[in-house]
Amino acid sequence: MRVRVLGSAAGGGFPQWNCNCTNCYGVRSGKINARARTQSSIAVSVDDERWILFNASPDIRAQLESFPAIQPRGLRGTGIHAVVLVDSQIDHSTGLLMLREGCPFPVYTTEMVYQDLSTGFPIFEILKSWDGGIDHRLLAIDGQSFQVDGAERLRMTAIALSGKAPPYSPHRHDPHPGDNIGIFIEDTVDGSKLFYAPGLADVDARLLKIMDESDCVLVDGTFWQEDEMIVAGVGSKLAGEMGHLPQSGAGGMIEKLRLLDRQRKVLIHINNTNPILVEDSPQRAVLDKEGIEVSYDGMQIDLGRHAEEGDGARLAREAMAHA
Ligand code: MLT
Ligand code: MN
Ligand code: ZN
Repeated sequence: MRVRVLGSAAGGGFPQWNCNCTNCYGVRSGKINARARTQSSIAVSVDDERWILFNASPDIRAQLESFPAIQPRGLRGTGIHAVVLVDSQIDHSTGLLMLREGCPFPVYTTEMVYQDLSTGFPIFEILKSWDGGIDHRLLAIDGQSFQVDGAERLRMTAIALSGKAPPYSPHRHDPHPGDNIGIFIEDTVDGSKLFYAPGLADVDARLLKIMDESDCVLVDGTFWQEDEMIVAGVGSKLAGEMGHLPQSGAGGMIEKLRLLDRQRKVLIHINNTNPILVEDSPQRAVLDKEGIEVSYDGMQIDLGRHAEEGDGARLAREAMAHA
């Protein structure tokens, strides 16, 4: 399978419009070694034609424009074959509004996310006023896998995670399974596996096992440290209170990832306050040493056959098949 990182930043993006923290000011003025990033979303495909979008970010217009493989076919159309949302956060769902001209694809969410997006942040209700509304499909969180019509080669399983429903959720202070999920994605032909979880408050034994089965884990990179927002002077909440496991510290993401030794480890959904955004920072050097990558917009992660063959070999094989 092939993974395209459309947006690697957390909510607000990098730089964030109203922020002059060291990082945001630094990247805006070119004074630090860092690249700007749009908000959290990836696309996955096995044929480079039909893409499943995981999360629809407010930056989706620019993300689609920067990714020709997903551009329209015919007079009107899209390479987006389905959309899967991992939570009802603004950074993960607002993009559906930008696609209001017609969403000809199914949108998969858990029951909890469906409720949030029908009440506290009722974009599913709003979209009913456009052609066809939303073709919503319910995601089970009991371990049952699902496949998207026309892209059956990918088998996906939603994994309920500990995390937080957003501030506008009617059950913000009353967590339910399904408020946040990770997705385990398997390529049923070459057997490659990806675990994607941009928001993750804890890695327990059950989750570690799923991550251990994966060839690549693409996981929560929001914060370097628990009190990062407070130390940066831009907020009052701890990482844990926002449903994110920080990288550093006892029991942090670095320690958890150290328990995996076979797979690619990549951080995504990186908040603009995080020092790992600075390529020559000491924190980034720590990640390098740990073999942990930091995703960026436009990053391509090839797994299974895509990784073995590389583009050149695959294109040559396809050319021969058509000859
Ligand atoms: C989060 O995951 O906590 C969000 O990115 C916060 C936000 O959207 O501002
Ligand atoms: Mn977020
Ligand atoms: Zn900032």
